[in-house]
Amino acid sequence: MTTNDLGKVNPSEQPAPLPRRRFVEVLLSGGFLATAAAFIYPVLRYLVPPKVTDLGADSVVAGKVGELKPNSGKIFHFGSRPGLLIHTSGGEYRAMSATCTHLSCTVQYRDDLREVWCACHNGKYNLDGRNVSGPPPRPLERFDVHVRGEEIFVMRRREA
Ligand code: FES
Repeated sequence: MTTNDLGKVNPSEQPAPLPRRRFVEVLLSGGFLATAAAFIYPVLRYLVPPKVTDLGADSVVAGKVGELKPNSGKIFHFGSRPGLLIHTSGGEYRAMSATCTHLSCTVQYRDDLREVWCACHNGKYNLDGRNVSGPPPRPLERFDVHVRGEEIFVMRRREA
């Protein structure tokens, strides 16, 4: 390394221009892009809801024979909404919408009451889906149930 008359290093002999600086610039711009993506992605997911492909399901397999003991119930997916399959203590299967007609909470089967119960505001429905106490204003939508082999099919009722 040589110096000029003023004691400065000859410019042509200075070290290569800062690979460290370039590395920091890349690191910072990558961090900025990642931060921007972290803010923008949730906004886009909110503005563009996911596609719901199964809205029109008229029939689903809600369960298998033997899966539910008598006097019990289970939630199943009927399209994009929950359904409730009940195996009554008499051995009969019943199915209905599990969306409460009051404020749309998901109802459940209460084996101690032998009724359908909504935990949100203590609404109750009987095994026919009829609202019997509490705030629900309407019955639950009833579905038809057919057992075929080992599978329990639930179907929407056709309007007459
Ligand atoms: S939402 Fe079910 S009783 Fe209110």
